[in-house]
Amino acid sequence: MVRGPRLQATYEAPPNIALVKYWGVRDRERALPYNSSISVTLERLRSRTTVRFDPELSEDRVELNGAPASEGPRNGVVRFLDRVRALAQVTYGAEVRSRNNFPTASGLASSASGFAALAGAATAALGLSLSGRELSKLARFGSGSASRSVFGGFVEWRAGARADGADCYARPLYGPDYWPALVDLVMIVKGAPVKEVRSEDAMQATVATSPGYRRRLAELPGRTRKIRAAIGARDSRRLFPLVMDECDSFREVCETTRPSLDYLTPTSRALLGEVRALNREAGRPVAAYTHDAGAHMHIFTLERDSAQVRRRLARLPGVERAFLLRPGPGGRRVD
Ligand code: DP6
Repeated sequence: MVRGPRLQATYEAPPNIALVKYWGVRDRERALPYNSSISVTLERLRSRTTVRFDPELSEDRVELNGAPASEGPRNGVVRFLDRVRALAQVTYGAEVRSRNNFPTASGLASSASGFAALAGAATAALGLSLSGRELSKLARFGSGSASRSVFGGFVEWRAGARADGADCYARPLYGPDYWPALVDLVMIVKGAPVKEVRSEDAMQATVATSPGYRRRLAELPGRTRKIRAAIGARDSRRLFPLVMDECDSFREVCETTRPSLDYLTPTSRALLGEVRALNREAGRPVAAYTHDAGAHMHIFTLERDSAQVRRRLARLPGVERAFLLRPGPGGRRVD
């Protein structure tokens, strides 16, 4: 019997946490952001996705964490598959099975890891061999931050200047082993609300209504340059205050959006205050907080300070769990 290509592939991809936030789309059709962003890819946490195309399937089947996907996530996956099918010029249906090794509702950026894994698996299943850069360009159509999860370590997603998006892609700045002393203490807070508004819609509300958004955009090139340089010098004293400034700027434009976007719980806010107090008392930047469009906190610190920082923060009421992650590798095919 003559056999065609297998039409199946499995890919794993990690989440990432942004040090410079992507928040605002300048062209929705081409998924182009207003500003460049920088993130750290995280170790251990993974989305693992298998895609099998089947010419006999008339409809896509999508399973997330062992159960059929609900309508919203399913539509996102189907739209993304349509883009991959158009690239490969096929019309096959697909069976998608995706699993996270961390709680999906935990707010730990499952859309970034999920769409990076889907991009890798779907293109490999159809025999399209894309470079990392091309994969990052594709992944952003699923979720902007997914473009960065293609690579490990410290990653920049360049906004680019061209209207056609040709210069908009992610690239690795430094690999996962570049700065071994830097750690991310992830603080899971109790009662984190489930996201009501999709990030893509929330950020467009910010662009349209937050009075501070233009100022943020004007400040970003300078801050981004400094953050890139501080990472390059492995200089936490320079990096940590910049990371907190950036997080404060992001939070400020969210809170002044109409209607206001408030992602934090009282515990998240207590964590912000505690990190500021810790740095003040130490007379140096020992730690830096940052958060996504969610209530959990990522606290960057150095390995040698991490036990002290953890002791102080984990005792706050409302902190459910704290765990330590380092920068990790990017997405890869695993079958
Ligand atoms: C605050 O990439 O999740 O985490 O494109 O709607 O999926 P969608 O948005 P997404 O937004 C990320 C927003 C952020 C900042 C960041 O990761 O850069």
